[in-house]
Amino acid sequence: MRNIIIDCDPGHDDIIAIMVAVAHNKELNLLGFTTVAGNQTLPKVTNNLLKVQSYFGWNYPVSMGYDSPLIRPLEVQPAAHGESGMDGPVLAESPLKPTGMHAIEYMRKTLSEAREKVTFVCIGPLTNMGLFLKTYPELQEKIDCIAIMGGGIYNGNILTKAEFNIYHDPDAAKIVFESGVKVIMAGIEVCYSGSILLTETEKAKDGGRASKLFYDLMQFYQRYAIRNGWDRTAIFDCTPVIYLLHPEYFVKEERDVHIETVGEYCRGMTVVDTRGYADEIKNPKTVLVSVDREKFVDVIFESLNILDQQYA
Ligand code: BDR
Ligand code: CA
Repeated sequence: MRNIIIDCDPGHDDIIAIMVAVAHNKELNLLGFTTVAGNQTLPKVTNNLLKVQSYFGWNYPVSMGYDSPLIRPLEVQPAAHGESGMDGPVLAESPLKPTGMHAIEYMRKTLSEAREKVTFVCIGPLTNMGLFLKTYPELQEKIDCIAIMGGGIYNGNILTKAEFNIYHDPDAAKIVFESGVKVIMAGIEVCYSGSILLTETEKAKDGGRASKLFYDLMQFYQRYAIRNGWDRTAIFDCTPVIYLLHPEYFVKEERDVHIETVGEYCRGMTVVDTRGYADEIKNPKTVLVSVDREKFVDVIFESLNILDQQYA
């Protein structure tokens, strides 16, 4: 059983990743959530998470973190996630409240008290994670690994060469990638390789509580793919969660990764050293390259099924 903290900015795909994690609570012991500004403002993404918790009757602790990147200004993503950050599903407001503890204080307390190591699943910009590592370096030894959705081996999405989570706070990403903690990077290529076909989404249409939420999330989230004429879409944030559950489904490489924090065209690029010079490898990250698409999508539907039965 692996203890995890999910650091997120929900976000459609964040919520789907969270559903996969909660459905697998025998393998992943979810200690709590921390939220960070990214897809939308900090209050909005936190509110989205609380609404989903109430929808299922969950009450995991939610601790709010930073409301803007370390240095750069906040740049939210209404084009991808709407004005609320989770447009599409109509969910009731939640009576739940965040813990009142800052995210990095929640991380400090949880890690200090933990008997076993903790894994971070970071599926938003890395502001909380970076500042936690900077503020409490002595707690690094309590971290098993940091599984990140972010970056890309060759390409980006928000920019040609930069992926949104890293682009949004490259300075924080640099701290995380240089910290020496074991990093697993699920960049855009592996996420695209696990894409769900738009026709597959339809299977959730008449399902239970979780399937309905998934379907409603996807109706908004898939618009981007439809506008581009694609027959599939990546549910990015599921990738590090599914990797923790099924590493055997993935192809991966150990590579040095540097973060471009400035640059006219490449700010936020994860510069992955793909040259293969063994002598040059200094501080390798586990870079996920591709995944068995059908198995990946099966895990998502399996998770929805589990939750549909639990919350009928
Ligand atoms: C990442 O950016 C956000 O829009 C998604 O939630 C995901 O974490 C994909 O680039
Ligand atoms: Ca996200």
